[in-house]
Amino acid sequence: MVAPTTPGTTPTPTNDAPVADAAARLNRLADGYLVTAALHVAAELGVADVLDRGACDAERLAAEVGARPGPLSRVLRLLVAEGVLVEFPDGTFSLTPSGRLLRSDVPGSLRGVVRARGGVYATAAPALAEAVREGGVAFERARGEPFFEHLAQHPAELAAFQASMVDRSARAAADVLAVYDFGRFRRLVDVGGGFGVLLSAILTATSGVSGVLFDRAEVVASARVPEGTEVVAGDFFAGVPAGGDAYLLSWILHDWDDADARRILTRCREAMGPDGTLLVVDAMLPERAADGPAVIRLDVTMLLLATGCERTGREFGELFASAGFTLRRIVPTASPLGLVVLEAVPA
Ligand SMILES: C[S@@+](CC[C@H](N)C(=O)[O-])C[C@H]1O[C@@H](n2cnc3c(N)ncnc32)[C@H](O)[C@@H]1O
Repeated sequence: MVAPTTPGTTPTPTNDAPVADAAARLNRLADGYLVTAALHVAAELGVADVLDRGACDAERLAAEVGARPGPLSRVLRLLVAEGVLVEFPDGTFSLTPSGRLLRSDVPGSLRGVVRARGGVYATAAPALAEAVREGGVAFERARGEPFFEHLAQHPAELAAFQASMVDRSARAAADVLAVYDFGRFRRLVDVGGGFGVLLSAILTATSGVSGVLFDRAEVVASARVPEGTEVVAGDFFAGVPAGGDAYLLSWILHDWDDADARRILTRCREAMGPDGTLLVVDAMLPERAADGPAVIRLDVTMLLLATGCERTGREFGELFASAGFTLRRIVPTASPLGLVVLEAVPA
């Protein structure tokens, strides 16, 4: 029950019900860390791959994934409460449509994404308040070194991060290819291309284009790209491979603040000829938070992990101009993450 109000005044609760609703909502939000942790357990142990073969009780599941049945059963029941699993009267569990996305190596899989969020990303969360109060990067405060340098020294966390990128890039590739034709390019350099998921999708879908995959040495060592693709290891702050007529930065600029993003763009500008094209694939920050909650969450992920941020179209235009590029067009995609393709040319 809410007391009647005159226009422009705030509704006043007349009994405890709205207050109880508000408390329940806030409690649920604050318990989000438990859901992240439970999803992480399921993803780490490969629970969904076992349940995909048929419904199974906690005892048998625990034996298959190498866990203790009691604790596993309690975690599974939280995932039931959250709609990720179903529990049957005989004590067996199976997957809901959301739970099926925790399987490995299936189209649309989110297993890698969940492993990264509940693992290496979550380790930065306790330091966020300090970083907001005093500045700096939460991840660096929590772990003592910058994110990508840390990954280079921790192969298990690097593998989880790259698995997350592979999952996300596979979905992004379909969204990007649906709206952007790469057929007019001859040689496409994917700068910070990770394992090459997006580049491989572009090269497979587009004839007449050759590709160069460029990333850190420990990353390109595990890349999987079509035959004939050049794979180059290096540091994009020092320089990027020359000779491309298109340079692709997919989910790169959002990792870095304006000064570092400008350095990467400048290296691309130096490597390309006057007729080159810069292609940036990134999420575009909405003007109002309510218009893009997923992008807003991504923006806070950047606040946790790195110096970067998501940017509005105007901010991208200004950043490009400061590195000698003119933003020519912004092509929206159907991605729920607000992904766009920004096309720029040397000014
Ligand atoms: C957010 S991921 C994006 C990967 C890929 N472009 C995609 O769309 O999925 C950022 C990539 O930048 C790479 N990276 C970070 N620092 C780098 C550097 N100094 N030189 C080259 N690559 C770097 C990382 O290894 C990682 O693959």
